[in-house]
Amino acid sequence: MHKAYYILTTAPFISKHLDTSNLLEETFNSSAPSNIALVKYWGKTEPQIPTNTSLSFTLNNCLTKTTLMVFKKDIYKDKSDLAVFFEGQLKADFKPKIETFLNRISSYVPFLSDFKLEIHTQNTFPHSSGIASSASGLAALSVCLMQLEKKLNPKISQVYFNQKASFLARLGSGSACRSIEGPVIIWGKHPDVKESSDLYGVKLPFELHPNFNNYCDSILLVDKGEKQVSSSVGHGLMDNHPFANERFKQANNHITDILKVLKTGDLKSFINIVESEALTLHAMMMTSNPYFILMKPNTLQILDKVWEFRAKTNTHLCFTLDAGANVHLLYPQSEKEITKGFIKKELEQLCENNQVIHDCLGLGINIG
Ligand code: PMV
Repeated sequence: MHKAYYILTTAPFISKHLDTSNLLEETFNSSAPSNIALVKYWGKTEPQIPTNTSLSFTLNNCLTKTTLMVFKKDIYKDKSDLAVFFEGQLKADFKPKIETFLNRISSYVPFLSDFKLEIHTQNTFPHSSGIASSASGLAALSVCLMQLEKKLNPKISQVYFNQKASFLARLGSGSACRSIEGPVIIWGKHPDVKESSDLYGVKLPFELHPNFNNYCDSILLVDKGEKQVSSSVGHGLMDNHPFANERFKQANNHITDILKVLKTGDLKSFINIVESEALTLHAMMMTSNPYFILMKPNTLQILDKVWEFRAKTNTHLCFTLDAGANVHLLYPQSEKEITKGFIKKELEQLCENNQVIHDCLGLGINIG
């Protein structure tokens, strides 16, 4: 995206001067879900502009719950400018990431500089489970910030609220912009979705086929360790990647294909696109320089068993992966019983402490 165009298109997200004189202190609550990409975002340019369009399922149970307390700076002189708590504990090590985020978004929320902030956050999924909490965390915080903006400017519409929450979340972590609404979100300009944007996520522009109603996602926690390679380093390695252009083309074609599938309910094609995307993401990691592998031996065993089960039972279980060793298993609600039985019998023991999180498609944020 050209700089001048970026400045022009982001202009609507710069809030005009808002009078903060009547607001001395206030508390805002929100929750935001995690999301799982079916067509993956891998590669970006500044400032957090994706090199290809991505599409995700919003989850229902894996949530970050956030409370934002704001205190007027000139009144609450002895409070610190920013305090971040995670599960009730003051977390000094969380502060630099939040500070970087707040600096990045400062020109869009200038009223924030009148306040000191206290942020309390917790996840409904186990801490250090290997599930990225940056998407849900930054989405929940952005929603609290938008509640503050709405308090100061009650006239803003719900559409603007969600769009700007997604826009702000994107500046914290790209995939976070897909965690505001649900059940299916597209991020990145694509010719097949006229309302799509590089700046924020948008909802699927048509009704999802009933085959996908309450679609299940069981997350197999194969390895809960710290990521060896952060996603920002991973995105950066796409800059000089020998296969980058082909990959970006493929992802954009997959968007065209998966949009058709989400309309027609063709589960066989769904499986083909989703598994191809997961393996291509990891193939990009294995063929970058430096190269790396995030899958573990148990990840591969699970993929093998999924293929075996699918062939044997003629069901529609498929997998996807994010930037780690964990496996997301996707399957229709109508196959829940047989699939959960298989997970319990054959896959649970391949997970760290037998941990599996059962989730499904969800609708996005909650306020209050
Ligand atoms: O939002 P980030 O910068 O953590 O990148 C997320 C990248 C993947 O999870 C691998 C893919 C995606 O689209 O979510």
